[in-house]
Amino acid sequence: MLVLGIESSCDETGLALYDSGRGLLAHAVHSQVDLHEAYGGVVPELASRDHIRRIVPLLRKVLEEAAVGREGINAIAYTAGPGLAGALLVGAGFAEALAMALDVPALPVHHLEGHLLSPLLSTDPPRFPFVALLVSGGHTQLMRVAGVGQYELLGETLDDAAGEAFDKTAKLLGLGYPGGPQLARMAEKGRPGRFTLPRPMLHSGDLSFSFSGLKTAVLTQVRNRALEEQDKADLCAEFQAAIIEVLAAKSLAALKLTGQQQLVVAGGVGANRALRATLDVGTRAAGARVFYPEIELCTDNGAMIAFAGAQRLLAGWEGKGGKGSKGSFGVRPRWPLEEV
Ligand code: KG4
Ligand code: ZN
Repeated sequence: MLVLGIESSCDETGLALYDSGRGLLAHAVHSQVDLHEAYGGVVPELASRDHIRRIVPLLRKVLEEAAVGREGINAIAYTAGPGLAGALLVGAGFAEALAMALDVPALPVHHLEGHLLSPLLSTDPPRFPFVALLVSGGHTQLMRVAGVGQYELLGETLDDAAGEAFDKTAKLLGLGYPGGPQLARMAEKGRPGRFTLPRPMLHSGDLSFSFSGLKTAVLTQVRNRALEEQDKADLCAEFQAAIIEVLAAKSLAALKLTGQQQLVVAGGVGANRALRATLDVGTRAAGARVFYPEIELCTDNGAMIAFAGAQRLLAGWEGKGGKGSKGSFGVRPRWPLEEV
């Protein structure tokens, strides 16, 4: 069964072809980083327009790479939310129209479910049930995952997401856009401990997070002083250490609470090398294991959407669409994962 996956929830257009028997046949992503760089953040209207420009050439590319024709597609999975409404509508509209033309089902997929299941695409996948740490630009959540579609929220951020904290702090340190990877690169040249930042909610006794205060704490340190490059690097190192310490401690606490031995890390911040190193050590010490998606599947991509769609089909979900459909569809810019 060949599933086309389409991701367009934010600033990446991602298309992929996943075959339930043969695995991932092709995937291609176009990042809009250059387009939004001048504005220091994603401009929704520009994002939507760029998705429109990229989607057809990317479809041609993945079909060519997989050496299949359009008629070989058995179902089309697309991100229906959460995300930017206009950007989501481009992918949804395209997917539903193509599904109608090819007379195959269209499958609306939750973006976070895509991230959550993406480590299952790796060569050494986890098995259900597991605990997942979802750390992206918009979300920071710990979930208990019993199977496809069975997600229990254990804890989440009360304010900013981890990725958002990285991005906002990078911006206030003048590190450019997108901030997360830039800040992480800078942190590698710095030394944690020279500046002191809080570890928010480390001892709160629950699995909630709060990262907005960290950005303010950084602001307090940089106000009224000229920062040399080394100062910035040391601040970045301390900032990254603070976030990682809290993420790791709560992830280990979630494993303990649920009695699970497998931790899955998904979402853009999961690409952070220092986070991975800390979780590798921490889980090993706890007699547990940590699983990551392939590094190129950490950030937004179509492969995780195709895969999630395929898993849903295999679980007996029929989707909708095809020639018999009335052509109506919707997107959900806000959509709690537990409601899927
Ligand atoms: O999952 P994702 O691609 O998009 C969302 O669904 O939000 O995550 C993007 C987020 C951004 O905030 C970005 O700065 C962050 O992931 N990110 C990183 C790193 N790579 C991406 N944060 C810290 N370290 C990284 N290496
Ligand atoms: Zn994402």
